[in-house]
Amino acid sequence: MDSVVQIRDLWVSIGGRSILRGVNLEIPRNVVFAIMGPSGSGKSTLLRSLNRILDLYEGVSVKGQILIDGVDVYNSKTDPSEVRRLVGMVFQIPNPIPNMSIYDNVALGPRINKLVRSRWELDNLVRWALEKAYLWDEVKDRLHLPASKLSGGQQQRLCIARALAMKPKVLLMDEPTSNLDPVASAKIEELIVELKRDVTVVLVTHNSFQASRVSDYVAFMYDGQILEVGPTGQIFTRPKNKLTEKYITGRFG
Ligand SMILES: Nc1ncnc2c1ncn2[C@@H]1O[C@H](COP(=O)(O)OP(=O)(O)OP(=O)(O)O)[C@@H](O)[C@H]1O
Ligand SMILES: [Mg+2]
Repeated sequence: MDSVVQIRDLWVSIGGRSILRGVNLEIPRNVVFAIMGPSGSGKSTLLRSLNRILDLYEGVSVKGQILIDGVDVYNSKTDPSEVRRLVGMVFQIPNPIPNMSIYDNVALGPRINKLVRSRWELDNLVRWALEKAYLWDEVKDRLHLPASKLSGGQQQRLCIARALAMKPKVLLMDEPTSNLDPVASAKIEELIVELKRDVTVVLVTHNSFQASRVSDYVAFMYDGQILEVGPTGQIFTRPKNKLTEKYITGRFG
């Protein structure tokens, strides 16, 4: 299998407490890969280990190996900024820079990382990313308005555009619709399915319906381990693990 993410025996502890305990996972290219599991099971920690945002926390120790598109994420020779370019991230609460313009929110990363050589190239890249994020038509006449003027759903799509502008191989989304109304959520779900042409999407969601609508694979996490992984249809119809079954049918706890 041509996996874009390979996780081998990953152990993460924070402040001496074991949070991830021997995670092994392969994520194929150009799929939507959902991670489900109860609160506190380690889903966000797993995402944060993929782009080394974990480095920013106190008292973190990471053991094991993560390869992303062949890059050995925790190798001492690997530059964390290279990792963060390969792996984009969208959070639960939309976090554009509020007083910065819509255009600049998307343009900032490519500018700082010198991904473009001219204003013309930058304009094209910004437009491309906003189109991919299904936002272009709504903002093309007001690109210089501050991002704070957008609705919550639009701000979340702006954050998706900002991540895409860096041309990542993997896009991490940690409960990206949990703060949005059903209409805004539906739009983002539609978008997630389209995005897999360009990137591999790793989506943490508590919503079984969302996972079944958008994902190709589901991994079920419990207490710092992955208990079960499989094609979405199989996980929802014939889960092998009793805990997976309990969780997806909403009979957990
Ligand atoms: N910075 C931190 N310092 C100490 N403990 C942490 C830190 N971040 C996470 N943990 C602990 O790691 C465990 C897993 O947390 P994590 O946020 O990964 O869970 P989760 O599956 O994303 O939960 P949720 O569904 O509620 O978002 C929890 O017990 C949490 O308290
Ligand atoms: Mg979480």
